[in-house]
Amino acid sequence: MAVIRPLIGSRYQVGHEVIDTDHKIIADGWFRAVNCEPIQFPFLIGRLKKLMKTHFEHETALMQMAGGMLCDCHRTEHQTLLDLCERAAVLSNTNWQRTQSVLRHQFPKLVRSHIACMDQVAVLFINTQARAAQKLDGRD
Ligand SMILES: [Fe+2]
Ligand SMILES: [Fe+2]
Repeated sequence: MAVIRPLIGSRYQVGHEVIDTDHKIIADGWFRAVNCEPIQFPFLIGRLKKLMKTHFEHETALMQMAGGMLCDCHRTEHQTLLDLCERAAVLSNTNWQRTQSVLRHQFPKLVRSHIACMDQVAVLFINTQARAAQKLDGRD
């Protein structure tokens, strides 16, 4: 059996506590889903989707609190990731091998590129706004 590398390593930390913690929780949920027995899969993929939805709500709220909003392409990628989980859930009823392939290969690729690009840009905005607010308040 092939060794499964973690979904994200330390180089995918973006420098925001809430977002990095969410990513770790999602990575853990994903790891369980790719290492489970077929009978456990519906529960674990449902859980993974829920974790991701919660995380996407966090990112949306953090951007709004910083005075911005997630761009269309960022939101589209969130939906693509949720759709991929849904596809894996549907596939698991008929093709377990294909299900695992989607989750072990397509999903990590998308998650890693999303974090490295979209999330990194969002965090840059959030952290920059926070530093500017601190300066205005004379806290810096
Ligand atoms: Fe994220
Ligand atoms: Fe994101």
